[in-house]
Formats: sequence, structure tokens, C-alpha cells
Amino acid sequence: MPRSEPIKAVRGVRDILPTERPLWRVAETAAAETARRFGYEEIVTPVIEHAELIERAGDDSDAFVKELYRFEDRGGRKLALRPEATAGVVRAYFEHGLQQGPQPARLFLTGPMFRYDRPQKGRYRQFFQLDVEAIGSGNAGLDAEVIELARDWLTELGLGNLRLELNSIGDSRCRPAYLDELRSYYRPLKEKLSGDSQARLERNPLRLLDSKAAEDAPFKSGAPRITDHLCSDCSAHWQQVRRTLDSAGIEYVLNPYLVRGLDYYTRTVFEFYPGGATGQQDALAGGGRYDGLAEAEGWPPTPAVGFASGLDRVTDLMATSGEEIIARPAADVLVLPDGDLAVEAAEVARICRAARTVSVDYDPRSLKAKMRSADKVGAKWVVIITADNAKSRTAQLKDMASGIQAEVPWSELSERLA
Ligand code: HAM
Repeated sequence: MPRSEPIKAVRGVRDILPTERPLWRVAETAAAETARRFGYEEIVTPVIEHAELIERAGDDSDAFVKELYRFEDRGGRKLALRPEATAGVVRAYFEHGLQQGPQPARLFLTGPMFRYDRPQKGRYRQFFQLDVEAIGSGNAGLDAEVIELARDWLTELGLGNLRLELNSIGDSRCRPAYLDELRSYYRPLKEKLSGDSQARLERNPLRLLDSKAAEDAPFKSGAPRITDHLCSDCSAHWQQVRRTLDSAGIEYVLNPYLVRGLDYYTRTVFEFYPGGATGQQDALAGGGRYDGLAEAEGWPPTPAVGFASGLDRVTDLMATSGEEIIARPAADVLVLPDGDLAVEAAEVARICRAARTVSVDYDPRSLKAKMRSADKVGAKWVVIITADNAKSRTAQLKDMASGIQAEVPWSELSERLA
């Protein structure tokens, strides 16, 4: 019978290998520590949600509609793999009565997200986000707070060379009139626009502003700017966000074309890019205020703001330009049985484990070969057990840095390693 082909990973997803995990761990630990420093608590929500929850949050947006992993479970429920965390976090906030606790609820989450997008470097179908949300307050101080949190975390990872782009896209009071102006501006140009922009002109003209198509580029600079059309409340909020960022010494670039890919945003929107890069693909983090999302999900209207950052992109950048992370060896102590002494080696490992991380080299190679690989993997100590050692319940403990080796009874090993 012909051998069947081995099955490889699904297109657009990746394995994160043990050699890469230390870098990820640094990013994740710093994320949790930074979030906690700002008073944010961890929440975990499921990766599956009702497809309708996502559709209500994303109505009309590319990411939610076109890229959604949708499926029906065995009970006929229409479900989706979450493309982002915000819709689920807002659902959990109401479903568990967090709106009755201290406001805003400051929450963070890390976990996998799924989007059926065209895979390329930095863009995956399963990717990981740090997601940070402050739900239950419209205060402009919070918009600045989540931006400062993102900036502090990225800086701590050695990625301090950042470009922060900022815009306000108004709210349900001032945006409709602005969108009418935008349509009026673009309608006479329709024939010259890209196909996507022609399709979006009536439905979602805001997205014409962040179009990457070359045909659309010449018309952007003449388009009316939303920040010139904000109502007085949005305008005061916008000023307050900038004042708070200014006083925190956080630099930003005003980008009147920044509208973000998701439909739920109101007022502040922002994105972080690595210094020097341009284009949406390279955004390290993005977010904004979404005062209308709770209502779109069917809950009472509730203001909120947050951001998410792609850990795949952050760790990729750390690997190339961040600080050097020295991967720790898998274990500090390597137990090397010389010959067929697996039972004794396991017992010695158990004793050493009281003090250190330990692994055992069970390979039936020569002691010399095993010593060579112990050196290569960076073990701090090796514990050699020969047949004679096994009989006398002793071992040769070698400190790899100094090269000093001594015979030690098993009963003293953990003390010597402490
Ligand atoms: P987003 O801009 O869609 O926003 O995604 C946030 C970040 O996730 C991006 O800046 C990028 O770093 C990363 N990302 C997105 N798609 C991919 C992908 N296919 N592969 C790798 N990384 C990716 C949101 O998700 C909003 N929920 C953010 C938010 C939270 N707004 C308010 N609260």
C-alpha cells in the first residue's frame, strides 16, 4: 500500500516552538505586569461566540464579515471563531454584571484570534492579541490611559521607537452629517475610484479615507476632514485626549485618514507603528473608543475604550530589533546515567527537582557524548551516575561553569544544588 502523505499545519497558522517561547513569555509577562500596574485585571473569554454577536459588532466591516471563521456545531448553532476580543469582552461584562461593580471595569486578555485573511508575513489566520478594555466610562482620560499603557508596554519590550497615529471620527450625532459631505465630495469622482471604493461610497464612505488603492490616492487630500466637523462634545473630548497625552509627554501624529477597519468606533481612534514603517499591515497595535458597541450588542448604551496588539508582530519585531533575550536552558540540571540505569536516574532526578529544574538524558550513548550535549544546551550542573555510584547511592556532581566535580551522596544532592 502506498504510504499516505504526512499532514502539515493548516495554511496561515503557525507553531510557536520552544526556542521562540522565551521571547513570547517576555512579551506576555510584561503585558500582564504593565496592565496590572494600570489597574487592569485579567479576563478570559471563549474563542467561540455566537456568529451573530460578531456580526452585530462588525456590521459592514471587512474583518468581521468577509474574514469570519463561521461554522455550525452539532446542535445546529451558528458559531464563529472570534476575530477579535472586544465583542466578547463587552458581552461578558454585561452577562456577569460587571456594570454593577466599580466603573470603568478595567480588563485585559491575551489569546488567539482568527481571521480568514490572505496570509503573509505578520498576517496570520490564527494570531495572538493582547487586548485591553476600559468599559463603563466616557472620560477622555481613559483614552489617553490605554494609549499610555500600550506605549509603556512596547517601550519595555525594547520597541520604544514608535509612531503613534491619532484621529477622532466623531459620534452618532456629528458623523452622519460629515458622511453626507464625504459622499458629496466623492460622488462626482466615482468613475475614477477603485472598485472597492466605488462599492463603499454610499454604504461606508469613511473607509475610502484609508483605502490603499493607487486610484484613490489623488483625491484624499481634498476630502473634507472629520476633525473639522465634530460636534461640540466630540470636539471637547478630542481636545482633552490630546491635552492628556501632551502632559504625559506622549508624541503622536494627527492622521485625518485614520478610520480603522471596524465599524464600532466613535471619537478617538489610534494605531501604533514601528518607527519608520507605514501601511496598515505593520500596525503593532490599534484601538479606540467604541461608545456604541454595547447597544449594538443589545445591552444598555455604555461608553468604552480599548486597544489590541498583535503578539506575533510584536515578538517578530523583538526578535529583529528588540533587546536580546537569552533563552534559558530547558533545565538547570542534567542527570546523565552511564549505562542502563534509568530507575536510578529517575530517582536522582526526583531528588534534584526539589531544588532545581531537572531533565534526564536517557539516551544510550557514551557518557562523553552526553557530556558534549549537556554543554551545548547550557546545563548549569550535570549529575553523573555510574554503576558504582548507583550501588553506593552516590553521584558525580559537576558544576559546568567552574568545572569542579565532586562525589556526593544522593541525600545531599538537593542541598548542594540549592
Ligand atoms: P485590529 O486593528 O483589528 O483591532 O487588531 C489589533 C492588532 O492585532 C493589529 O494592530 C495587529 O497588530 C494585530 N493583528 C490583526 N490582524 C492580524 C493578523 N491577521 N495577523 C497578525 N496580527 C494581526 C482589534 O482587533 C480591536 N478589537 C482593537 C480594540 C480593542 N479596539 C477597542 N478595543
